[in-house]
Amino acid sequence: MPDTDRPVAAAFDYHHDPRIVSDPFGVFDAARGQRAFQSSMYGGYWVLTEAADIRDAFQQPELFSSRITGIPPTPRPRRLLPLELDPPEHGVYRHPLAAVFSPQAVARLEPAIRATCVGLLDRIAAQGACEFLADFAVPFPTTIFVELLGLPAAEATRFAAWNHALLHAHDRPEVRADAKAQIAGYLDELVTRRMAEGVAGRTDDLFAVLTRADVAGRPLTRDEIFDYAFLLFIAGLDTVTAALGFSFAHLAANPEHRKALVADPALIPAAVEELLRAFSVVNPARTVTRDVEFAGVCLREGDRVLLSTVLANRDPAEFDDATGVRFDRTSNRHLAFGAGPHRCLGSHLARCELKVALEEFHRRIPDYRIADGAVIRSHGGGAMGVDHLPLTWEPA
Ligand code: HEM
Repeated sequence: MPDTDRPVAAAFDYHHDPRIVSDPFGVFDAARGQRAFQSSMYGGYWVLTEAADIRDAFQQPELFSSRITGIPPTPRPRRLLPLELDPPEHGVYRHPLAAVFSPQAVARLEPAIRATCVGLLDRIAAQGACEFLADFAVPFPTTIFVELLGLPAAEATRFAAWNHALLHAHDRPEVRADAKAQIAGYLDELVTRRMAEGVAGRTDDLFAVLTRADVAGRPLTRDEIFDYAFLLFIAGLDTVTAALGFSFAHLAANPEHRKALVADPALIPAAVEELLRAFSVVNPARTVTRDVEFAGVCLREGDRVLLSTVLANRDPAEFDDATGVRFDRTSNRHLAFGAGPHRCLGSHLARCELKVALEEFHRRIPDYRIADGAVIRSHGGGAMGVDHLPLTWEPA
């Protein structure tokens, strides 16, 4: 065992470091140096800093368990399905969602996704200015989520308000708790109603698929269907909103990159991957299941470990010019969607939403910038994001 058993404890705080507001990725870049270190914050946790170790840890669920997520652990009456399960149980619960988020299913959704995007952009293009989060990056994925649940698109306003409260209340736990309780209450009623409708109800949305699903020879219970819906709300809205926020903040501040996409929209799929890499937003955590030597340090059973996709994707050992943005990378094996059994189920949907947003926004608003004097604010945490991004342009 190495004698660097417990290397220097650092006050690495990816939730509330004051520098995160203005330079979230810089806070992670500055933490690089040791392969693994311990932060003294939130009861203590390990931070792996290299992409190879982080990928390795994602791929060893028997050593790095997902049964307790969050740093510090988030108390929850029930587990998020399938995120907070380990194999083999995890696979049983992941299976029912696979068809809903397959590449084929997403391809079928693309026209509706594009129509939603165009509807929002048509409203703002003539204004010459917008607050990108409230006007686009929050309502866009929210409307798609609401449609996936089989609800009328008008319900998106309600979900967007809850999502906005969650996003903007990082220092106000009571506001976040209230928004979460309201979402839970709404989804609870919805599940009850949809289960009562049974097969006589709609057949093509998420609830219909889950109602028909089979886990280990039995149908899903009402609570299990709720747990899936709640995870999808947490996993599928904030993340896309955040990826849109960081991507458009970069494009607004870097006209040469924006002009490249306007001039050649065929670059957009590669740009989506590069923006996901350079501005990754998810910082998952795991719990060590037994004493083990890993990444040159001794981990003990019960230790908490941060597997930051931000640190993995900005690792100079893995990517040339790792902190820069290059749309011409020939290889881009990023970890923005994680790896191993829990790799993001919504990655095809997320990629489609980001591609459509970049295509349609630049078609209508090719030349925009950050509003004069505006201060862009970000937040850290398990899912990082942009809080405020005022953009301006000359209306056509
Ligand atoms: C840019 C957008 C997104 C990013 C960066 C992202 C990232 C991630 C990451 C890193 C994980 C792995 C977490 C872990 O290992 O603990 C994950 C899991 C997951 N994501 Fe996403 N996600 C995005 C969008 C979505 C969307 C749109 C959906 C669906 C509506 C979704 C559904 C899920 C689900 C269900 C899981 C859990 C999978 C499992 O436990 O097997 N995600 N996501």
